[in-house]
Amino acid sequence: MPGLTAYAGLVALLELGFDAAFDYHDGRVVDSLREAAPEGIDVYFDNVGGDHLEAAISRMNVKGRIAMCGAISAYNATEPPCAPRNLTMAIGKCLTLRGFIVNTYAALRPQFLAEVGAWVAAGQIRYDETIREGLDAAPQAFIDLLAGANVGKMLVRL
Ligand SMILES: NC(=O)c1ccc[n+]([C@@H]2O[C@H](COP(=O)([O-])OP(=O)(O)OC[C@H]3O[C@@H](n4cnc5c(N)ncnc54)[C@H](OP(=O)(O)O)[C@@H]3O)[C@@H](O)[C@H]2O)c1
Repeated sequence: MPGLTAYAGLVALLELGFDAAFDYHDGRVVDSLREAAPEGIDVYFDNVGGDHLEAAISRMNVKGRIAMCGAISAYNATEPPCAPRNLTMAIGKCLTLRGFIVNTYAALRPQFLAEVGAWVAAGQIRYDETIREGLDAAPQAFIDLLAGANVGKMLVRL
């Protein structure tokens, strides 16, 4: 996609095939998102809530769709968090926001495995894992996991 900007330190994501990536620690999410997707976004899969959801609503195109899967930014909040302050933008943009819980789709698991398994086998979907060797490596692997040193799942091979 033209105009998308890769950020330093996020090469691994780009190598996996993403058009752009940014680290939310580097600045305001809404600014990073505007730079990464100057033409707006049509679909947002939300795992964060809070300022991420608010930024996505700001940048959604008309008739865009949001799957609400998680809200990790709110899980440790000591007060109930506010809704996105710009939620009323969903009216003018005719947005659809819909909750997503994986159990709802359990019946589709065989179809998922068949279709996505074939895409992985064909190289159409790529993924990565960070593997540490042996039980002795487990404590450091856990520390590194919390520090974000892994790409993909952090695994310890026993
Ligand atoms: N709906 C469903 O069926 C379903 C099923 C499973 C999981 N989920 C949801 O999926 C999400 C991810 O789960 P997971 O198991 O993959 O979690 P995880 O492995 O613990 O990863 C959490 C990620 O969220 C980031 N994060 C934490 N606090 C953040 C904040 N305030 N703002 C922005 N990013 C933040 C972390 O990055 P940093 O460490 O850099 O902050 C990390 O990359 C969660 O919201 C979970 O509830 C939903």
